[in-house]
Formats: sequence, structure tokens, C-alpha cells
Amino acid sequence: MRDMLDPAADNIFDAVKTVYTKTGVVETVPKTEHDWEKIRIGAVTLAEGVYLLKIPRPFAPPGDENNSSGSDATELSPAQIKAKLEADPVLWNAKIEALRNVGLEVLEIVKEKRVAELWDAGYNLDQACESCHIQYWYPGDKALLEKIDRDIQERYERSQRAGKPPRGR
Ligand code: HEC
Repeated sequence: MRDMLDPAADNIFDAVKTVYTKTGVVETVPKTEHDWEKIRIGAVTLAEGVYLLKIPRPFAPPGDENNSSGSDATELSPAQIKAKLEADPVLWNAKIEALRNVGLEVLEIVKEKRVAELWDAGYNLDQACESCHIQYWYPGDKALLEKIDRDIQERYERSQRAGKPPRGR
């Protein structure tokens, strides 16, 4: 996660951004072949790398129990994660495939250098990571759950507005 999926995802997250500074707005978009190559490396690493999560292995180093004890525990312990995965391997695999699909989506975008679509791809990527984490890592994190719900609702409302037929006919 920390050393492979996370940095690979950053290659995609960081590819497009708008930063508001005192002197104006700074837009980052991929321009050179090197910029696009970086995104492609991110996409391939995610699409292939996520399949490593199909191989059973310890979730954390021995002794690392996450924030899983006490009344304000928000995280599952590695043993709880393992038990949850074994109880429903189909769900675990679905989360893996969801992330792989975003990787493949980004590869298609890179092929045709469709800059505008990188924004949505970044959002989809974030959702693919979080929807697994919220199930398996920190299901106790209510605030985050609510935030994801709100985001989904807002996007839905925006798409409804965008999809409305023009008035006056
Ligand atoms: C199929 C499920 C799944 C997907 C998809 C997934 N993760 Fe994770 N991730 C986990 C689990 C489970 C843990 C908790 C492991 C632990 O610490 O016990 C975790 C932990 C992490 C950590 C903390 C690792 C550490 O060393 O403390 C990071 C960072 C992370 N994920 C990033 C990502 C990013 C970025 C993505 C998307 C590109 C992603 N993950 C997609 C399941 C997933």
C-alpha cells in the first residue's frame, strides 16, 4: 500500500490540479511525453499491482494492531481484516477489480491524451481506494462515511442539473 499503490496513485492524482495562489491560479496539466509516461506508469502499476492483494499475506507487521482497541477505535485489527476477508472473498475481489478498472480506464485516457477526463479518473481512483478502506480498514470512521455519501449525492445532483433539457422548448 504505502510503497507501491500509494505512490502509483499519486502519479495520477498529481497529474492535473488547480492551485490558487496570491498571484493567481496555477493550473497543472500533463504536457510532455514524460508527463504522460508518468501517468501511464501509475496506471499500469495500479492495474497490475492491485492483484498482489489476492495473495494472502499479513496486513501489518507483527505487533502493529492499528487503532483497534478502546472505545474510540476506528480501525480494524489485522486479524479482524483477515477474518472479514475470509468471510466474504467475493467482496474483497470486487474491491480489487474496481481499482484495477480505474487503472485500465486511465490507460485508455493516456493513449488518447484526453486531459479533461483525468479529473474524473482521479475522483474514481479516490473512490476505489476509499471504498475498500471503509469496508476493511476503518469502518468505524463515521465522519468519512458521511463525507463519501455527501460527495456522491453532490455529484449526482450536479449530473442531474447538467443532464436537464434546455428550457424554452
Ligand atoms: C482491496 C482493498 C484495498 C484497496 C483497493 C486499497 N487498499 Fe489501501 N489498505 C487496505 C487495507 C485492508 C489496509 C489496512 C492494512 C493495515 O494497516 O492493517 C490498507 C492500508 C493502506 C495504507 C496504509 C499503509 C500503512 O503502511 O500504514 C495506505 C497508504 C493505503 N492503504 C493506500 C491505498 C491507496 C492510495 C489505494 C488506491 C490507489 C488503496 N490503498 C487501495 C485495503 C485496500
